[in-house]
Amino acid sequence: MLNHNDDQPLIYMDNAATSWPKPPAVAEAMARCLAEASANPGRGSHAMAVRASRVLFEARKLLAKLFGVRNPNDIVFTLNATHALNLALQGLLKPGDHVITSSLEHNSIRRPLEALKRTRGIEVTYVPTDAKGNLDLNQVEASFRNNTRLVAVTHSSNLLGTILPVGELGELAHRRHAKLLVDAAQTAGTLDIDVTSMHIDLLAFPGHKGLMGPQGTGGLYIHPELDLEPLMHGGTGSRSESPEQPTTRPDRYEAGTQNTVGIAGLAAGVSFVLEETVQKIHARENELVGKLIAGLNNIQGVKVLGPGPGEPRTAIASFVIEGVDPAETAFILDQQFGIAVRAGFHCTPLGHEAAGTTETGAVRASPGYFTTDSEIVSLVAAVEEISRAFR
Ligand SMILES: Cc1ncc(COP(=O)(O)O)c(C=O)c1O
Repeated sequence: MLNHNDDQPLIYMDNAATSWPKPPAVAEAMARCLAEASANPGRGSHAMAVRASRVLFEARKLLAKLFGVRNPNDIVFTLNATHALNLALQGLLKPGDHVITSSLEHNSIRRPLEALKRTRGIEVTYVPTDAKGNLDLNQVEASFRNNTRLVAVTHSSNLLGTILPVGELGELAHRRHAKLLVDAAQTAGTLDIDVTSMHIDLLAFPGHKGLMGPQGTGGLYIHPELDLEPLMHGGTGSRSESPEQPTTRPDRYEAGTQNTVGIAGLAAGVSFVLEETVQKIHARENELVGKLIAGLNNIQGVKVLGPGPGEPRTAIASFVIEGVDPAETAFILDQQFGIAVRAGFHCTPLGHEAAGTTETGAVRASPGYFTTDSEIVSLVAAVEEISRAFR
């Protein structure tokens, strides 16, 4: 019934988790850094240490350009988006603070908030969305309290692909004397982000998704007037005589040796994004996900979650096949068709509650900039075959 050809090349549709493949320049930059600039950045004045420091600064400059950040030192490196979100939430929130967030959040926002509820007595309001992931701004506005310190939201749902109106949320937050934290895990490199015009105070981003860098990279933009308590204390190579963490950025938030090689790769990924342009990348991904959704919608018994055809979204198509366990669908896609997707709850039980898929979970297919039209056709044909087999 189902054909499997072991020689067929992998069709990678899991870019929402980590993008793959990377532009060749990423691996080249990493190899070059390892060979020529792999001394300890910020820890010495010899030539190779200076080259390593320069690698970090060049990456900061490129990221600042991408996000409209005036001072590159307001961007600090982290291991991933989760690390950046923890730095933002744990560094900002004090006992008694109230946070407004959405019911679409990834566990990377939900779990730190739930932990801070327990450990610091913060209060959290999860504003519900509709099944497509749309957030009602009036409901957000009605959730403000006198002690609301922060609005913390994802820019795009990693389950539904819905894009949240972060600019409006930022305006609203500032009107109510609160700050805005944006989780750009699904949008950095694939949707326009400008921290000033979008009123973003804190922007957490991974390096390994839309920015096309390697795993182990990410970062946080911190508004220049906002002082966060560091998540980690330790050596920075600066003000070594002081027992206190330096107040200057980025050192204040970058204790310990940085992932210089990974950041060299990230810089190459960001250069690629800047050269191609975010607009072109978004347009291409939008075209691919549009074709995928149109194909899936034509299959009997398949339900695609999230915004309807033609409505704005990121390149995520989550779906369920009636009567087929999503884990089984993903297993068959992998084993019999060589197609990599992700099944289950995607670290967002809240998103599944909103979508009404708490019982089943879903299959998530996420094309990337390098996905081809024929790979989309292959995925649709494979899903059609699976759904027919289980009818
Ligand atoms: C919306 C969202 N937030 C946060 C994360 C966590 O990103 P990272 O794996 O870089 O920590 C993800 C990853 O899938 C995500 O989709």
